[in-house]
Amino acid sequence: MRLHLNENTAGCSPAVLETLRALGRQDAGFYPDYGRARTAVARCFGVGDDHVLLTNGLDEGILAAVGAAFRDRSGGVPETVGVAPAFDMYEVSTTALGGRMVTVPLDAACRFDAAAVKAAVTDATRIVFVANPHNPSGVPCSLDDLRELARGIAPVLLFVDEAYADFSGETLIDADTFAQLPNLLVGRTFSKAYGIAGLRAGAVIGTPLALEPLARVVPPYSLNAWAAAALPVAIADTAYRTWYLEQAAASRALLHRACDRLGLETWPSAANFLLVRVGDRAGEIVSALAARGVIVRDRSRERGCEGCVRITAGLADDTTRAIEALEEVLCVVR
Ligand SMILES: Cc1ncc(COP(=O)(O)O)c(C=O)c1O
Repeated sequence: MRLHLNENTAGCSPAVLETLRALGRQDAGFYPDYGRARTAVARCFGVGDDHVLLTNGLDEGILAAVGAAFRDRSGGVPETVGVAPAFDMYEVSTTALGGRMVTVPLDAACRFDAAAVKAAVTDATRIVFVANPHNPSGVPCSLDDLRELARGIAPVLLFVDEAYADFSGETLIDADTFAQLPNLLVGRTFSKAYGIAGLRAGAVIGTPLALEPLARVVPPYSLNAWAAAALPVAIADTAYRTWYLEQAAASRALLHRACDRLGLETWPSAANFLLVRVGDRAGEIVSALAARGVIVRDRSRERGCEGCVRITAGLADDTTRAIEALEEVLCVVR
């Protein structure tokens, strides 16, 4: 059971699989067309096609945003700002492209402090990254705080990573917000709720002006034909997505209850995973779970996540089995 990367543990919708199976020699042989996929993504988020940049997973969207913003080298080594702990690709992309990431530590509750983040912005800052909900805690932040932050740091870009917004049900995406905040970019992925992580499909949403520099960084055929064909079908299968969101919510509740019973600290997650403090022997617990076929993510050595593992909340049946394994392991290891 892969419970370490927050994928859709049920996989893609049957309709997506059917579409992929129907693709043929020419789909493989010709460069893909993105018209249908882009329109489907735009409709899904209620914005115009010109507000959507498709990317090879949100990872590429993050890399493209950094690449585009770092073309401005005035003021020395370009910087990005974010919180710690956080999703690692903000820092990976920043350093890979010759910049430096400045991080603001979160408090013990993993609450987002917009004022502290704003205070870390300097003349060298090109982008501020915030994930909502936060990864690895799943704690959501207020949309008003994010809007306020975007206003406060302009013209520096605010990149809000909404990889898990399908699960929280909260988004900054709407035409009025972008009209008021031209320095806002919102990242989305189809790897999580839509179950196509293996195909690699993400999007950056923003005004045409804000997206234009990113579009020059992303290669013209970044998504392959299989991803382009799957996207409209995955988006159209709303019943599958709704069913999976319910499974994830039920799993989250099961995990919360089990951790309470076992005396393990957790954070109030709005995403499809839970951060759990298992203590000093986190490494042993992760290995013992793996030996029982349950893979969870060891975050115990990161600052702010000491003693913690992150567990995906996917199918409720899988979660029940994972909880049984955790109970067993805790008896042996603790
Ligand atoms: C916060 C966050 N952003 C972005 C991504 C990347 O998503 P994708 O699979 O679309 O590259 C992930 C994946 O785990 C994530 O957790």
